Amino acid sequence: MNRRNLLGAVALGGGALAIGGIASRGIVGGEDRPLSLGSSANSLRIPKLYSGEKVDGVRTFDLNLRHGVSRFLDGVDTKTIGINQPYLGPTLEMHAGETVRMNVSSDLSETATVHWHGFHLPAAADGGPHQPIAPSSTWSPSFEVKQRASIFWYHSHAHRRSGPQVYQGLAGAIYVRDAESERLDLPNDYGVDDIPLIVQDRAFNRDGSFAYSTSMPDIMTGMTGETLLVNGTIDPVFEAQTDLLRLRLLNGSNARFYRFGFGDGRSFEQIASDGGLLEQPYRTDKLVLAPGERAQIIIDLSDGSPIALMADSIGGMGMMGMMGTRSDRQRFTVLNISPAAQRRRATPMPSRLITLPRIDPAVAVKTRRFVLNMGMGMRMMRGGGFTINGQSMDMQRIDETVKVGTTEIWQVENASMMAHPFHIHDVQFRIIDRDGQMPGKGEQGLKDTVVVAPREVVRLLLQFTDYPDPQLPYMYHCHILEHEDAGMMGQFLVTS
Ligand code: C2O
Ligand code: CU
Ligand code: CU
Repeated sequence: MNRRNLLGAVALGGGALAIGGIASRGIVGGEDRPLSLGSSANSLRIPKLYSGEKVDGVRTFDLNLRHGVSRFLDGVDTKTIGINQPYLGPTLEMHAGETVRMNVSSDLSETATVHWHGFHLPAAADGGPHQPIAPSSTWSPSFEVKQRASIFWYHSHAHRRSGPQVYQGLAGAIYVRDAESERLDLPNDYGVDDIPLIVQDRAFNRDGSFAYSTSMPDIMTGMTGETLLVNGTIDPVFEAQTDLLRLRLLNGSNARFYRFGFGDGRSFEQIASDGGLLEQPYRTDKLVLAPGERAQIIIDLSDGSPIALMADSIGGMGMMGMMGTRSDRQRFTVLNISPAAQRRRATPMPSRLITLPRIDPAVAVKTRRFVLNMGMGMRMMRGGGFTINGQSMDMQRIDETVKVGTTEIWQVENASMMAHPFHIHDVQFRIIDRDGQMPGKGEQGLKDTVVVAPREVVRLLLQFTDYPDPQLPYMYHCHILEHEDAGMMGQFLVTS
């Protein structure tokens, strides 16, 4: 019997009650009414899995951006934004090789966009600032899913408004599946032993509203808060029905970096980076994710003891201490995991997962440099301080033009005093080296976002295989959303 059938048997047997109980309370936002979270420990909300509908062979998703009201804190409501629900959106499920169509309608009161983070697609379908969705209008891009299986995400990329829109909830997860990964004996049952965890810190005002701030210190550090939401749940608990649990971690925070690990220090297997599976599982006891980054891990619960996934807040925010703002070190409980008495037994982990093509950096036709900086003093006060190669984002300016069908090295240098997660649209890249050293094992797979520490030089290898467009650019930027909104972003064309 394979893992799926076994899980089915568990679900139909004694586990049905517990699973049903979790699932019914597990949908983010439910229908259009706020969910009340009474006790201090709450069932983890699991976003609804949404596979769209096949229309003439095209997998079609109807996504409606809307204002909503959510109940995160006792006794007060929070105004939020969601997709088909009050806060965040459903997990979109799609398969490599198929064509999808996204009907994105907006009932928001301001212009928004929806970007498919990590996707290789035509620039016109990318959902960046050049594809605005005005209030009461609909945007319907269609594209082929040319990804390997992984967790990706969708979120607002509105011009200078990504930070506040994502903060209010304009984000969701995407599961891409492919035959190669489905063949592996890995936990794969959504909401049962395969759980997305969208990790976001939030600050609240006393009346329950989100306290999104655009003060200069908050823009410099990026917006952080002292309350952790996981799939929109505060202090979540998950009852595990299986010995092996696959967690798909998505750092959906605006600015906070986390070092994840378990309360009892146990190790786990990292099986995937941003854009797909690693070649083999990597055993470790800690994992750092910056905003925009994802990773998948498998933990073994066969000893039956409850454990907690923890996250230490980290970051290159040392200089913020000088400015007397918030603390830069904090420990959060991400998820309390309580193994059920009856559990599906663990099977051995596959020792090999996939094979990634080796690309020789020597085939690169060009090396481009990208220097990230944050100007200080008056320059910063006037808003011109967040730059790449000395320039702030300008929608009218094309910064780089690459040729389709070529391989390039992008050398990213951090000249500032804090770490920045550098994200590139359109491609899944490989990290060649960090200051000349091989990247860590957890970073040797497909990536679309990479942390660049202060004064560090990171070299990336990129292949531009499709979709030339002489007019519409893709973005590259810091994924601290306040830095992106303040101008640490540039644009590149892929031309024939
Ligand atoms: Cu996740 Cu350009 O963004
Ligand atoms: Cu992106
Ligand atoms: Cu940054």
